[in-house]
Amino acid sequence: MNSQYKAIWLNDNGDLEVIDQRYLPFEKKTRILKTAYDACESIQDMTVRGAGVIGNVAAFGVYLAAREFDGDKDQIKQAAMKIRESRPTAVNLMWAVDRMLQIVAQSDDVAADCKAEAIAIADEDVLRTQKIGEIGCDIIESIMAEKKINQFNMLTHCNAGWLAIVDSGSALAPIYEAQKRGIDIHVWVDETRPRNQGASLTSWELLDAGIKHTIIPDNTGGHLMQQGMVDMVITGADRVARNGDAANKIGTYLKALAAQDNDVPFYIALPISTFDFACENGVSDIDIEIRSEDEVHLMRGIDENGHIQNIRITPEGSHAINYGFDVTPARLITGLITEAGIIAPNKNAIGKLK
Ligand code: MRU
Repeated sequence: MNSQYKAIWLNDNGDLEVIDQRYLPFEKKTRILKTAYDACESIQDMTVRGAGVIGNVAAFGVYLAAREFDGDKDQIKQAAMKIRESRPTAVNLMWAVDRMLQIVAQSDDVAADCKAEAIAIADEDVLRTQKIGEIGCDIIESIMAEKKINQFNMLTHCNAGWLAIVDSGSALAPIYEAQKRGIDIHVWVDETRPRNQGASLTSWELLDAGIKHTIIPDNTGGHLMQQGMVDMVITGADRVARNGDAANKIGTYLKALAAQDNDVPFYIALPISTFDFACENGVSDIDIEIRSEDEVHLMRGIDENGHIQNIRITPEGSHAINYGFDVTPARLITGLITEAGIIAPNKNAIGKLK
């Protein structure tokens, strides 16, 4: 794996090296993870984030446990369960740990086999996201043909690019593919309060790739859609239930409502590993992470001396609540773009993927 367009890679010492996303867009720093504890901490403190990359770090975390505990299966399993619980909503985390634990159970050379499996999961993601890009870009082309337009305006929420799922992302994969196909594409980037994954990460990725984009405050999307300035909305997902309800970054639901009110197609892009086939109803059953209220009180930015600072924007004494995700009901979703094609957001179509 090379490190230039990857969020994570094994370095020459066999440790896992990751881009520390807490410093973006100001500094491109990496962090080295040597133990299962490091992997767990990096998921919890948001060094790494995004459903796909969380799953990859979890898988490599089990490998690091196998290396650290010299193949002792009980200790590896204990460490794996801690990693599995490090964040609650993105199901790729549980999916990846469970897949690694099957290897642990069967293997006679646990560290070597875990390493091979973690690499296989990451390599599969590369192929999955390429396919999602191609299928999603076909949708872009068909909307352009239908509307007879030469420039395409996409709106996206949060970050679902290569920082969130190797190698091309989920929601950003069709945008990267559109650039490859020479399509004139412009992206409205929701800032994505409170952690601003859109403003700091998606914009950083798009700028680096030379893709036209405009950062917008979270509340702007509805207005743009009313004015005919959005041709399609696309987001990633953290967990999609069997009935097609999709959990993604808080605020996604409101974009889907506005899209429906304005006849704008609303797509979710995801690998099949993001479906939770055991979850029947997303709105009622998906566990939504509640994060620290400090993320609402404090804004992170860079001052004129180049120092990254947290600045308080609320009165001391006011309380805040910080739900990390919301669930968009299936009825608001035009289609689910997966490596297996465009899937209708319903039980019947999703059940066939299992
Ligand atoms: O809290 P985060 O930054 O991990 O949330 C990320 C998202 O909600 C992404 O949109 C989602 O993981 C899909 S990208 C694979």
